[in-house]
Amino acid sequence: MKGIILNMQSKSPIISSNPPPPGDIKDKVSYLLSQMNLEEKIGQMVQADLTWKQDIPQLLREGRVGALLTVHDPAVINRLQHIAVEESRLGIPLLVGNDIIHGYRTIFPIPLALAGSWDMDLIERVAAASIAEAVSAGTNWNYAPMVDISRDPRWGRVAESAGEDPLLSSQVARAWVRGYQNYRDADGRRAAACVKHFAAYGAAEAGKDYNTVDMSERRLREEYLPPYRAAIQAGVESVMTSFNDFNGQPATANTFLLQQILRKEWGFEGLIVSDFDSVGELVLHGFARDHKEAALRSMLAGIDMDMMSNAYHFYLTDLVREGKVPLELIDASVRRILTLKFNLGLFEHPYVDEKACQQAMFLPAALQLAEKAAEESMVLLKNESGLLPLAAGGTRYALIGPLANERTSLMGCWSFDGRPEEVETLKEALQKQLPAGSRLTYAQGCSLNGETLALESALAAAEQADVILLALGEEHTLSGEAHSRAHLGLPGRQMELFNALQNTGKPVITLLFCGRPLAIPELVEKSASLLLAWHGGTCTARALCNLLTGQSVPSGRLPVSFPRSVGQIPLYYAHKRTGRPADTSGTLQFNSAHRSIYLDENNAPLFPFGFGLSYSQVEYSDLQLNPLNITAEGQ
Ligand code: BGC
Repeated sequence: MKGIILNMQSKSPIISSNPPPPGDIKDKVSYLLSQMNLEEKIGQMVQADLTWKQDIPQLLREGRVGALLTVHDPAVINRLQHIAVEESRLGIPLLVGNDIIHGYRTIFPIPLALAGSWDMDLIERVAAASIAEAVSAGTNWNYAPMVDISRDPRWGRVAESAGEDPLLSSQVARAWVRGYQNYRDADGRRAAACVKHFAAYGAAEAGKDYNTVDMSERRLREEYLPPYRAAIQAGVESVMTSFNDFNGQPATANTFLLQQILRKEWGFEGLIVSDFDSVGELVLHGFARDHKEAALRSMLAGIDMDMMSNAYHFYLTDLVREGKVPLELIDASVRRILTLKFNLGLFEHPYVDEKACQQAMFLPAALQLAEKAAEESMVLLKNESGLLPLAAGGTRYALIGPLANERTSLMGCWSFDGRPEEVETLKEALQKQLPAGSRLTYAQGCSLNGETLALESALAAAEQADVILLALGEEHTLSGEAHSRAHLGLPGRQMELFNALQNTGKPVITLLFCGRPLAIPELVEKSASLLLAWHGGTCTARALCNLLTGQSVPSGRLPVSFPRSVGQIPLYYAHKRTGRPADTSGTLQFNSAHRSIYLDENNAPLFPFGFGLSYSQVEYSDLQLNPLNITAEGQ
């Protein structure tokens, strides 16, 4: 019996033999659930990508996979949706999940950079523009925003976060969710957002990805939970668990996090998905003997969908039959999944227009937004020389550095659908945008990974110049998932290049590209001016030139502290006082006995949270506090 046949002419599915009762989504879900056998129910709880060593089309026909992961080609997505909708017994469309973290084809600045714009409207528009491209190509579920508080820049995923502050991160979380979930295409297609990684993933010990997290409940609640909660209050439709263990229990099987906090205290009714294989990884955590026990523990803790581990696929049916997993739990999970599918309108619009989707990509409006976003994200960190903005004309510039003629790295860590050939390099942009009468020479000076120096040509270029523009920093592969660093200086021999050029006596304007805060006191000290460009996406170079030439004014402010040295980490502004606070935030070494300081390092960060200069001088004066006493509820 075929339960549902999609009438391709009509906008709604037709149930051939047992039509669902007319009514709301709840009724439709109940009806559909009543038609499903156990295998089909569990099938909805399984997410697979195309690397699975199983016959995916056949599993779709049998209703044994409910969601796809990282399938990007709209033709492939359509083909698989057709199988699920037209060749399976119940014709349930697929969730198609992808990571649209800072853009799809048009790439926007990394989230950390965007948070530094402090512009929630901008972030919301970036989210909408990113998801518009992705939805047109078949994505209906987005694994963003990531809102893990990150106070350790060794952790590569700080790039994906909004930085160190619970309040800013919460505002940003809301903006991402609004932007992603409010978007509709002309036919009403849209995508659900998925806030991640629940919980406290950003507190990985020693900044090493996937590492243990152990913290007090008070710290968790006050500092780490607010952004996830903000996303939920903004209506996010799904939550992804994290890879880390939390106080001894992996987050993916953590009943305190998932049941007590998420479901009970916050009343979250949406879908909870594991992270990639994090159900299976319970075995490696030492929390489950094998995949079967991993499935059992995750299920009992509240994971509705198993991303990629196979554990639900192979073992959940047996666990139900053995009476270890109550059927009501399965039904509740399947209800959530089907509710999301109905809410997304997938039954009405399971397919996308493969050809037309190309016309939705890389549109002028998206590019304009990408340029504005990059501009607003960049932070002027030093300009004592007053060399910025650049002189009106007549200056000879030497553009040097591994990132000066680079495309791919400018896009940042999550830019798999971005196309390097569509990214302008800084050299190309400067050639167009430098004031008339300026001269530009170029030398790479150093390989992208910093290992090979080419000093001779760099010095020769500098020789012919009045001012050196030096593009240094990290390539995009140094940040993001599984890309933690123990050293936070410039990679490789870049500092040697810097010193050689600075020794020429010519002023050096440093343009810094990176996916995290770097510990670079010497670079800051010796640079005449320093502009932080982050990894700004497709339009990084043009935006940077707008700021360099003064066509726009730098307005970004750091969403995260920059340490002076790795030994200061974790370093963040909202630290507790201690019983022996340092005399000043910038206490110098050796001057303050028995205080909370280092003997061999300043207490202050290199740049504090919120720091950022502009081209104008701002003076605050006659500040008054009114009222003088503020209660906890006061303003
Ligand atoms: C990451 C998630 C991501 C998932 C799916 C995992 O490795 O931790 O952030 O959403 O893969 O691509």
